[in-house]
Amino acid sequence: MAIERTLSIIKPDATRRNLTGAINDRFEKAGLRIVAQKRLRLTREMAERFYEVHKERSFFGSLCDFMTSGPVVAQVLEGENAVARNREVMGATNPANADEGTIRKDFAESIEANSVHGSDSAENAATEIAFFFAETEIVG
Ligand code: PPS
Repeated sequence: MAIERTLSIIKPDATRRNLTGAINDRFEKAGLRIVAQKRLRLTREMAERFYEVHKERSFFGSLCDFMTSGPVVAQVLEGENAVARNREVMGATNPANADEGTIRKDFAESIEANSVHGSDSAENAATEIAFFFAETEIVG
């Protein structure tokens, strides 16, 4: 099995409710190692750039408002099949559709305030990791 890295963001709804540790516990129990982590407030420009692929979607403005509404925790998770493993642990985008025991089922407030972001492919993971971290900041 391939050791991969993926980009995770703990979103403002979760930092506001002091859930960073509880969410990190889910990642670590799933065998994902947190090999880089930083807490920051996204600027509007950063949010619009990060979510550029969704810029034509009706929810784009609202999503960028939400993602700049409070601190986020950007992190690099490393492990076997980390992209897919992280998406299993997160659960479906809409918490109403998320499986029992997933982060979004247990913590998300709505399809927008859904507590976590995770890269959807290894290729996007590389781009998203580079968005937040220099290679020297990632310590496996
Ligand atoms: S889709 O339809 O498959 O492209 O959607 P998805 O990739 O799952 O979602 C992309 C990100 O947009 C957020 N999202 C929304 N925000 C606000 N309102 C609505 N209706 C909405 N639908 C999707 C969703 O949480 C995803 O955020 P990230 O950070 O990528 O998980």
